[in-house]
Amino acid sequence: MKKSEGYQSISIDETRIDELFQVVQWAFVGEWLKEDRQDYIDAIPVDRSRAVEVTDERRGTVGELAGVHASFGTDMITPGGRQVRTAGLSWLGVHPAHRRRGLMTTMIHDHFSRSIARGEHISVLYAMESEIYARFGYGMGAQTVKASIPRGPRMWHVDGSDELNVRLERADFDQHDQLVADLQAKLSRPGTILNPEGSGRNARFTDPVGNRHGMEKWRICIIEDAGEPVAYAFFRRKPDSEVGIHDGVAQVREHGSLNAAASQRLWQVLTDFDLVGTTHTENLATDDPLLFQLKDARAARTKVIDNIWVRLLNVPEALVSRQYFHDCDVTFKLSDRHVPDNAGVWRIVVRDGDATVTREADAAAATEATADLEMDIRHLGTVYLGGTSLEALSAAGLVKENTPGQARELAIAMMSPVAPLTNWDF
Ligand SMILES: CC(C)(COP(=O)(O)OP(=O)(O)OC[C@H]1O[C@@H](n2cnc3c(N)ncnc32)[C@H](O)[C@@H]1OP(=O)(O)O)[C@@H](O)C(=O)NCCC(=O)NCCS
Repeated sequence: MKKSEGYQSISIDETRIDELFQVVQWAFVGEWLKEDRQDYIDAIPVDRSRAVEVTDERRGTVGELAGVHASFGTDMITPGGRQVRTAGLSWLGVHPAHRRRGLMTTMIHDHFSRSIARGEHISVLYAMESEIYARFGYGMGAQTVKASIPRGPRMWHVDGSDELNVRLERADFDQHDQLVADLQAKLSRPGTILNPEGSGRNARFTDPVGNRHGMEKWRICIIEDAGEPVAYAFFRRKPDSEVGIHDGVAQVREHGSLNAAASQRLWQVLTDFDLVGTTHTENLATDDPLLFQLKDARAARTKVIDNIWVRLLNVPEALVSRQYFHDCDVTFKLSDRHVPDNAGVWRIVVRDGDATVTREADAAAATEATADLEMDIRHLGTVYLGGTSLEALSAAGLVKENTPGQARELAIAMMSPVAPLTNWDF
């Protein structure tokens, strides 16, 4: 019996959602509170939930779920403010009793083929552990700054910020979903994900009691300019005190600002709550305005970690769905073990910001063919959103440069003037 035999891939509907949740709790280590069930149902894209089920009693009880995953369709902002059809992969877990039998591999292949059939040109995800996904062709498409900011940091003043109004409210799907979606759609930062389609649209408002750890329910801060929302952030606070000195913490989750003044007003509020000593945030782009507005560059204690992982499913469609910043004409040989249609030699010609992408040789002919560059699909995922230079990957020995200077040519074309970031964690 081969290691992944004895299982089959199936779709999950509402009637089996609790079985799926059981696998998730086993895989992600935790015991959910009964009262949180509805929150999780609101957050999961049930219409695109999948699983692997035991079909052979040598594997376990026939019919039990051994692994699960779900995804949603969306559009992601790409460099230059364009958009690409995207699948957001999430909820992927394997019951510990069925680990290392290739079930993750089965599920990723299932996800790839279904996403490609739906016309989704890239797949993106957040990784629980950063080593898992490169083997499947995902590259680290963006990084994020995690920051802890002591109360009331001094900032370089931005004109107009003082005039903006502040609304502080309890985050509520009915009241705020459209407002957040409208603001997201106006952000031009590559990596921004527009609202998920189908079920699971509540995901960003999910607020299980079991995840609060003494914090308040999620609140939302909205900054308005003459009544028009120009920035928002989800946040919550927790009181704390020692020997009578109040030293609470605030946590900021998703946030976005349309301009410098809005960003400054937002962060002035988020870093200056009464009785709160420190504000923690994890969704800052590496070039977020806040980092430059702080007068003391060390005021924020920071750590840079991986943000979104990007996997090109359809190379030519993905590459033409973004803008470029320099003309170039480069050929590259691509390896792709999991989506063989992507393998081969490609030529990318950029003129006035737009790319034309043509196949020079398919996978079979590519072994003999030469190209300016050689790389794996995951390297294209790393540079796709424009946050990492292809030349850096060449300097690291990951991308092979056969024609001197061509890694730089493509790097300059692909680097984004604005660092990428996905600002909410799905
Ligand atoms: C991570 C997880 C999904 C892997 O599932 P699995 O069915 O055991 O994975 P597979 O058997 O398909 O493994 C495929 C390959 O990935 C490797 N791999 C699996 N988990 C890995 C990890 N955490 N880190 C690095 N490599 C990993 C395996 O060793 C295997 O390598 P091989 O092909 O060289 O033998 C599973 O262990 C799990 O549910 N973990 C907890 C939840 C989690 O982290 N989910 C991912 C959410 S982003």
